[in-house]
Amino acid sequence: MRKAYVAGNWKMNCTIQEATDLAKELVKGLASDANADVAVIPSFLQIAAVKEVVKGTAVKLGAQDVYFENNGAFTGEISTAMLKDAGVEFALVGHSERRHVIGETDAIIRKKLDALLAADLEVILCVGELLSERESGDTEKVLDTQVKAGITGLSSAQLEKVTIAYEPVWAIGTGKVASTEQAQSAHKYIRELVASMFTQEDADKMRIQYGGSVKPDNAKDLLAQPDVDGALVGGAALKADSFLGIIAGA
Ligand code: 13P
Repeated sequence: MRKAYVAGNWKMNCTIQEATDLAKELVKGLASDANADVAVIPSFLQIAAVKEVVKGTAVKLGAQDVYFENNGAFTGEISTAMLKDAGVEFALVGHSERRHVIGETDAIIRKKLDALLAADLEVILCVGELLSERESGDTEKVLDTQVKAGITGLSSAQLEKVTIAYEPVWAIGTGKVASTEQAQSAHKYIRELVASMFTQEDADKMRIQYGGSVKPDNAKDLLAQPDVDGALVGGAALKADSFLGIIAGA
């Protein structure tokens, strides 16, 4: 049985004060017998302050992105060494907002994933189709391309450090959550794809999160799907009570 993994992606929100307050409320409210691994993913500028709140607790700390070079003349970028120095345990790569707003390609995303693994950091690789791709029946094709570009050639040991987040772009921040059938079908597709690329055992171990308008009132049904192993939460992670409500659904 895979333990649920619920992560809150705070995106470009929160002052340092708001982020630390939110982290404190979360740590305080988190039941010691919570049925899930829990993580928060503040913006780079809040990471150091949030680290002070979550250190020594069960809450993991992640970053929203990373650059693939170690150091040097890369103005504005943050390296894996800098993330480790700040106490970060994992980073997202390939979030839909980085793919579709910033314009990151599968090749760039792969370099970031490789850099994180080389630094012994964990990864959440985000994949998902646009509304137009779903409507034209291309969802599985998109997942195929993004998953293969993301993890082909990894060792089983490396794969254990990777979580995949299925985030249909049309469900992100729109209030339009995927149905449980849509989520389960995409997750099952991803797991079978991973099994075909690696082994069934590798695929069975992998945790696949769902992201896109997850709220306390839909989390339980989504998380009850056999291949939905957690949630990557945006808007509802910005309030401790709603994020805790989602964790309680695990
Ligand atoms: P929302 O929960 O706001 O739809 O965002 C999902 C997401 O993009 C998490 O990474």
